[in-house]
Amino acid sequence: MPITRSAQPPVDVPAPIRRRHPALTWEPVPITGSGAGVWRARGPAELYLKAAPATGPRAELAAGLAAEAARASWLRGLGVPAAEVVELDSDGVVSWLISRELPGRSVAEPWPEHRAAAVVDAFADAALLLHALPVRECPFDHRLPIAVALTERSAGGLADLSVGAVPGWSPSRLLDELDRVRTSSGPVEPDLVVCHGDLCCPNVLLDPETLDLVGIVDVGALGVDDRHQDLALATRSLADPRNRHLGPGAPDRFLRRYGIPEPDPHRLSFFRLLDEPV
Ligand SMILES: Nc1ncnc2c1ncn2[C@@H]1O[C@H](COP(=O)(O)OP(=O)(O)OP(=O)(O)O)[C@@H](O)[C@H]1O
Ligand SMILES: [Mg+2]
Repeated sequence: MPITRSAQPPVDVPAPIRRRHPALTWEPVPITGSGAGVWRARGPAELYLKAAPATGPRAELAAGLAAEAARASWLRGLGVPAAEVVELDSDGVVSWLISRELPGRSVAEPWPEHRAAAVVDAFADAALLLHALPVRECPFDHRLPIAVALTERSAGGLADLSVGAVPGWSPSRLLDELDRVRTSSGPVEPDLVVCHGDLCCPNVLLDPETLDLVGIVDVGALGVDDRHQDLALATRSLADPRNRHLGPGAPDRFLRRYGIPEPDPHRLSFFRLLDEPV
C-alpha cells in the first residue's frame, strides 16, 4: 500500500537483469504509488519488472515485492488472473520481482464514452470475484498492520503506522483520527472478505473488446479485511479526476453493480484514511 509518492524510482533496473536480458529495453512505468520502480520490457519478452532497495529506510518496499509474489501465486491457484511470477530475487542491494505481462487495458486508461458504464460494471465484477474467494483459506491478513499500530498505541508504545500516511500528519494524529472514525459508527462486526487492498482503477485490466477481466495486478496488500476496504479505495479511485473518462456517476454505478448501493460512510472514511490521499 502506498506510503509516500516519489517522482523518481528509488533504484534503477538491477544490473543482473540488464546483463541477463541484453535484448530487452526497460521502459519506466510513470507515477507508481508504491514507491517501487516499475518497468515494462520492450523486445522479445513481455515482462514487467518491479524493483526496490533491499536494505535501508525503504526496505519495506522489497518486503512488499515478496508479499506480492506470494499473493499472485495464491490467486492464480484459485483461477484468478493475477500476473505469473517469473522471478523474485535480490542481489543484496536491490530486490526485484519480474512477472509476465498480462494483456488488456486498465480501467484507468482511456475508454470510449459509450463503453464507460460497462467498464465500471466490469470493475465491480472484479471486486465481486475477489470477494467471493474463500476467506478461511486465505493465508493473508490485511487487518494486521493497523491492529498492531492501534494496539501499540493503546499500550503507550510509539506506533509505526507503516500501512499508510497522510502527508504532513504525525502517526499519532492519524491514529487519533482513525480511532475517532472507527468509534463514531459504534461497534460493528467486520464483514470479512478477501480484499485486494489497493483496488484502484490502474490495477484492474480488461479485454478492450469483450471487457472480460484479464488481469488483477499490484496484489501485495491482498488479504482478509472488511469489504469496505476495497469499496473505499475503488470508489475514491473512480471519483479521481484522472478517471473522469468513466463519468461522474461512476462511483455510484460501481456500488449499485456490486450490490451495496449505500455502504457505511464511516467505514469508507476509515479505510481511506489508512491510505494516502490521491
Ligand atoms: N504483469 C503486468 N501486466 C500488465 N500490466 C502490468 C503488470 N504489472 C504492472 N502492470 C501495469 O503497471 C502499473 C504499475 O504497476 P503496479 O501497480 O504493480 O505498481 P505500483 O508501484 O505498486 O503501483 P501503484 O501503487 O501506483 O498502484 C499497473 O497499474 C499496470 O497498469
Ligand atoms: Mg498499481
